[in-house]
Amino acid sequence: MINIGLIGYGYWGPNLARNFNSNPNMELKSICDFSADRLEMAGRLYPQVKLTKDTNDLFSDTNLDAIAIATPVSTHFDLAYKTLSNDKHVWVEKPMTEKIEQAKALIDLSSKKNKVLFVDHTFIYTGAVRKIKEIIENGELGDLIYYDSIRVNLGLFQQDVDVIWDLAAHDISIMDYLMPFKKFTVSATGSNYYGNGFVPKSLLTIYMENNVVGHINVSWVSPVKIRQTLIGGTSKMILYDDNNPSEKVKVYDKGVDFYETKEELYNLKIQYRVGDMYAPKLEEIEALTVGTEHFADCIINGKKPMTDGKAGLEVVKVLVASKESLRKKGAPIELDVNF
Ligand SMILES: NC(=O)c1ccc[n+]([C@@H]2O[C@H](COP(=O)([O-])OP(=O)(O)OC[C@H]3O[C@@H](n4cnc5c(N)ncnc54)[C@H](O)[C@@H]3O)[C@@H](O)[C@H]2O)c1
Repeated sequence: MINIGLIGYGYWGPNLARNFNSNPNMELKSICDFSADRLEMAGRLYPQVKLTKDTNDLFSDTNLDAIAIATPVSTHFDLAYKTLSNDKHVWVEKPMTEKIEQAKALIDLSSKKNKVLFVDHTFIYTGAVRKIKEIIENGELGDLIYYDSIRVNLGLFQQDVDVIWDLAAHDISIMDYLMPFKKFTVSATGSNYYGNGFVPKSLLTIYMENNVVGHINVSWVSPVKIRQTLIGGTSKMILYDDNNPSEKVKVYDKGVDFYETKEELYNLKIQYRVGDMYAPKLEEIEALTVGTEHFADCIINGKKPMTDGKAGLEVVKVLVASKESLRKKGAPIELDVNF
């Protein structure tokens, strides 16, 4: 049995508590939050759980095997570092850290301490993304050409980060999982319309190896909620629409072929292919339930998480470069491909 504590019981923390509480290999032992109101809410649902405002109560509790951190990103590094330093496995919410050096320090410490470092890139554990991965690995799409996503809605404004750190973190993690290519440059555009220091709407362009390009469009100021991703291959293309309740993934046998005619050598001809579409059946288990089971499995059986510190670092690298590019009005920022 894994004894787990949770720090942060705001918007996302309750989802973690619910999943930890119902996992057969876990016992939710303590919840920590600065806010008395949030602790009172937690206490009503989990009367058996210790409640505290002091994070040290969790770090010093030798009965705890793991701690999950669901606080704002600026606090992740400090809390995760203390968790690992106290010989506990750690679950960190996305994005893993604010800085690249912090992400690397967590990776080093988890390996030195031989403790699991799990980053909650939730979408990787959805039936939809796992099915798309399977289709790509089967070679059905051919060579991958692009990743093109739009994730927009009205709110929830975060207090401490731009929309990129909140919403694009999801797309970068999905893109990195489906297309694990080296990323060369990132450019990001957007503006601080409301004068509060944070950018609520942004477009990212990521150049990767094999001439693959990712476009990620995110916004907190859209009148409608759109969650669509197009993944292009030379053979087939996928539409992943997270708002579609019954057919989230559609695989289109559509594409463009270029060829040379004998008569007109060197003159490229274009031929459009329009074939069938199918929507594969997807597993419908809540992503956090799958992620929680995987975290427990990694702790019990010494496995490496699918969303480990390295995956967390890949996302942080793109986010840090995006922030710099935003400041420079979309100038391309080179990424270090060596780590
Ligand atoms: N994986 C996902 O799909 C997903 C979805 C939403 C949010 N998140 C992530 O979860 C994290 C939290 O986001 P949120 O929307 O729940 O934020 P939130 O502001 O609603 O909640 C954060 C809570 O943490 C508490 N807190 C802050 N610092 C603390 C500290 N040092 N010690 C104890 N308590 C502290 C606050 O009082 C608050 O109750 C963020 O990193 C966010 O990116 C992930």
